[in-house]
Amino acid sequence: MQIFRDLPSLEAALAALRADGGRIAMVPTMGALHAGHMALVEEAKARAAHVVASIFVNPTQFGPNEDLSAYPRREAIDAAMLAEAGVAALWAPDVATMYPSGFATSIHVAGVSEGLDGAARPGHFDGVATVVAKLFGQVRPDIACFGEKDYQQLAVIRRLVADLDLGVEIVGVPTVREPDGLALSSRNAYLDASERARAIALPEMLVAAGEGVKAGEDVPAILAWGTRYLLDSGFASVDYVALCDAASLAPLAVLDRPARLLAAARIGRTRLIDNIAVNP
Ligand code: PAF
Repeated sequence: MQIFRDLPSLEAALAALRADGGRIAMVPTMGALHAGHMALVEEAKARAAHVVASIFVNPTQFGPNEDLSAYPRREAIDAAMLAEAGVAALWAPDVATMYPSGFATSIHVAGVSEGLDGAARPGHFDGVATVVAKLFGQVRPDIACFGEKDYQQLAVIRRLVADLDLGVEIVGVPTVREPDGLALSSRNAYLDASERARAIALPEMLVAAGEGVKAGEDVPAILAWGTRYLLDSGFASVDYVALCDAASLAPLAVLDRPARLLAAARIGRTRLIDNIAVNP
């Protein structure tokens, strides 16, 4: 696997892959790879002849109170994992390559990016949409794989690709979980033993609330129960527990279409998010 840091050499390598025939699947990441990322790579491999991964810790999706400098960076380990998994090329540009002097574009995906994490992290999805559009412009993949763990991000990217006719097939890959149900996340590394033990209240709550919604219980009452359950289980604060349309993420008060139950909450200083599908 070759690592590319400038666009001309990436483009030459992509031309060679295309000449070889078959589709190119992309797995965009910010590094600090875990089994959830490797599931994206496996899905990409199953769907395309060549897999191109990217590692870029994108500054524009971090808020002023989010510690960009503390974000884990361990490219050598990540690159070894990707090479071992059969990735053909790694695109790992630096910030100046992605955002050269004079860079002036920001993409805002209205509606789907504005509630939930968009409300809790202003500007976050503008940063995500802009960098993903740029990564797609650089790599021009046929397919790109994203985790359902970041479900709102996936919904924003689907809207972005449809609205701008980007011509990339977006594949959502199911969340990979620990044996006790906790969704894999780079942020789990920040949890101490006691927080890690209490964190399973998040997936437990989603499963129980999802069963209640499917059984026809009152949705606002279940969402309020979910918030209380997290606080009673040791979460410090809850940003949201919400039932939303699976595509637009508009809030739902009744389960009358494919939906997603999503939650974000802080345990100690770590903010965890998770979600599950809830279908009528
Ligand atoms: O999910 C991530 O790792 C990032 O948000 C992404 C999609 C690579 C954009 O920076």
